[in-house]
Amino acid sequence: MDKKKEQVSIFKLVFTHNWEDPVSDHAALKIKPNDAIMAITSGGCNVLGFLMFDPKVIYSLDINPTQSYLLELKIAAMKTFDFNDFKTFAGLTPSTGRAEMYEKLLPLLSQEAIDYFNNQSKLIKEGFIMNGQYEGFIKIAGKLIMLLQGRKRVLGLFEDKSQKDQEAYFDKIWDTRRFHSIFKILFNKHILARRGLVADYFHFDDGSTSFSESFYKRAKNAFRNIPIKGNYFLSLYLLGKFQNDEEVPAYLKEENYQLIKSRLNRIKIYNQDAQGWIDSMPDESIDCFALSNICELMSEKETAWLFSGVLKTARKNARVIFRNLMIPREVPDELKNDIVKDTLLSKQIYASDRSFVYGKVAAYSIRK
Ligand SMILES: C[S@@+](CC[C@H](N)C(=O)[O-])C[C@H]1O[C@@H](n2cnc3c(N)ncnc32)[C@H](O)[C@@H]1O
Repeated sequence: MDKKKEQVSIFKLVFTHNWEDPVSDHAALKIKPNDAIMAITSGGCNVLGFLMFDPKVIYSLDINPTQSYLLELKIAAMKTFDFNDFKTFAGLTPSTGRAEMYEKLLPLLSQEAIDYFNNQSKLIKEGFIMNGQYEGFIKIAGKLIMLLQGRKRVLGLFEDKSQKDQEAYFDKIWDTRRFHSIFKILFNKHILARRGLVADYFHFDDGSTSFSESFYKRAKNAFRNIPIKGNYFLSLYLLGKFQNDEEVPAYLKEENYQLIKSRLNRIKIYNQDAQGWIDSMPDESIDCFALSNICELMSEKETAWLFSGVLKTARKNARVIFRNLMIPREVPDELKNDIVKDTLLSKQIYASDRSFVYGKVAAYSIRK
């Protein structure tokens, strides 16, 4: 097997969406015209959405090449199709012609992306929406919730309500023993312990003593306190699809399509780890860093390496956002006076973060 094919078979496409709230990203990053952004690619939605704020360049990085291929595919489709055809190709409107549509994108794709997608006929035929490995898990979790809570209760959650009525709906109708049990099933401590996640070793910012308790509290905030209208993450988690054409990420809105399309060449895609990539960049060349929750996948030492690279490449007053899902990571002590957490803003962002699954969503700025 040649090296390229080997790479294609090792990596799997995990995310076809970003499961991180772009509203939180923008609140932390305050992207300005002409800014240079470094972002983790993942499903590519948030990188595409950042173009709305008129940055000069977005360096979009992912260690998993299939995530880069997906972003290439989305970009090629936006460049080639009008909005309605793009929606069709994505899988948002029914079609049996996606394989033919894909053929039209080949001139705009790298050979590596073509080699990958030529072996992904299911994804191409169905459209890329909700078609990564993580989305497969989400669909199963959504079915489990539908089964335990009942269809009527789930659909009732999405009916228009005042904030007060949303709270009452959660307290009186949604917050059942079965709802609690979902977290015990999904975050079973024996299964987590086998993966080295023993709650005794963790500090939960919300005072919880277990992952299931902490994730229950995260979900409660989203179901009870954050407006459900407009929260496309909730409809993807519970219904496996968007509710309508309006409650979608920026790049899937018709009114944004032409503007994003006209700026697609500002995205530079890299298949690389963020730590190494940052080291290779000139000093003081980046204004915004959207680091996802990659620090959880690194050792403390690598995290320190990443943040020293952030400091080196950051322009004066640059901004950073990063998240933790399960493993607590923080800016290393020795850099805390240079990469300074905005505690109040972080609290506000966290409280209203629609993607809700994270234990931390925090905003920082660089002092130089
Ligand atoms: C950390 S995961 C989390 C997914 C994310 N929360 C979301 O909603 O999109 C996001 C992406 O980071 C990539 N990744 C992980 N570690 C990385 C690293 N050190 N450098 C660059 N990309 C990395 C993964 O391949 C994945 O596609």
